[in-house]
Amino acid sequence: MRAVAIHTFGKPEGLAIVDLPDPSPADGQVLIATEAIGVGGVDAVIRSGILGARGFEEGHILGSEIAGTVTAVGDGVDPSWVGRRVWSFTGLGGGYAEQVTAAAATLIPLPATLSAVDAVTLGSSGMVAHFGLRHAHFAPGESVLVRGAAGGIGIMTVQLAARAGASAVAVTTSSAERGGRLRTLGATHVLDRAGDGGQDAPSGYDVVIDIVAGAATPSFLAKLNPNGRMVAVGAVAGFPPADFGTAMISAFRKSMSFATFSADTVPEPDQRAVTAELLAAGSRGELHPVVHEVLPLEQAVLAHRKMAAGEVFGRIVLTPSGA
Ligand SMILES: NC(=O)c1ccc[n+]([C@@H]2O[C@H](COP(=O)([O-])OP(=O)(O)OC[C@H]3O[C@@H](n4cnc5c(N)ncnc54)[C@H](OP(=O)(O)O)[C@@H]3O)[C@@H](O)[C@H]2O)c1
Repeated sequence: MRAVAIHTFGKPEGLAIVDLPDPSPADGQVLIATEAIGVGGVDAVIRSGILGARGFEEGHILGSEIAGTVTAVGDGVDPSWVGRRVWSFTGLGGGYAEQVTAAAATLIPLPATLSAVDAVTLGSSGMVAHFGLRHAHFAPGESVLVRGAAGGIGIMTVQLAARAGASAVAVTTSSAERGGRLRTLGATHVLDRAGDGGQDAPSGYDVVIDIVAGAATPSFLAKLNPNGRMVAVGAVAGFPPADFGTAMISAFRKSMSFATFSADTVPEPDQRAVTAELLAAGSRGELHPVVHEVLPLEQAVLAHRKMAAGEVFGRIVLTPSGA
């Protein structure tokens, strides 16, 4: 089978198409012929080599989210899985391939009316967005600011907050065109990356979901209302300044909170239950998967170049059949 592996850590060009023996499912596993493979920010971080010290080696196959059809089962697995369309989270690798093995216990059957491409666009981004809002104790009627709203997690956070009855959903983004698209998904106010602009935008927010972090983190903490909660869900701009705690202590009397959130701390059954609900909502048209582009598996390098250039609004999806 064809797969995409890291030949050299660093630039997108370090990814290479490889031919590998067809995998076979071990006990408790199924074999899935992939239809759609999500390309995520985590894939880019692993490829860049930043996480090299954490055990990734050359030859590592990227990809954490796939959808496709079960073609075989290992011992101990109900054979009726064969032929069913499923969504699967493969962890920190293994997804950029024509065939993938996965534990049967982790599969989510795809709703009949949801495409594989839409499933890998909604699935894990939506799950992270859901639990990020929950970690922030978001309640209907509260105002939310989504910082870094144009990526997969931000787009889903905007939709979920709007759907849950937020009083305002402000977003930061780098262009008016993106702002317009985010409005169609539920954003009520569009701010620039610094958090400025946005006609009639609230002066403060009950919840800030931050996918960006970096040097400007304190200025977004300052946008919290009294008793407001800011949750760092991502860090695409790197670490906050070392003295960012000063901003919190200076605003002591606002009783605000800062937290990080990683889906790794959510029990897997809970992740699966929420992902299944989100896929069902997507199949009913209640959530909108934003697919930036579908590319053949062979064009994984191009997909990563586009991500590195900041061109992607939503999700790039790879598909073996697109080759
Ligand atoms: N918490 C979890 O469990 C979890 C799970 C998976 C991934 N993650 C993390 O989530 C992040 C990726 O999420 P994603 O794919 O949704 O995000 P993304 O698309 O990589 O970035 C979101 C948006 O942030 C804006 N942005 C990029 N660089 C910026 C900068 N330097 N300053 C200000 N804005 C900037 C861009 O929009 P504009 O150009 O429109 O501003 C971009 O579309 C990573 O940090 C990843 O590690 C977390």
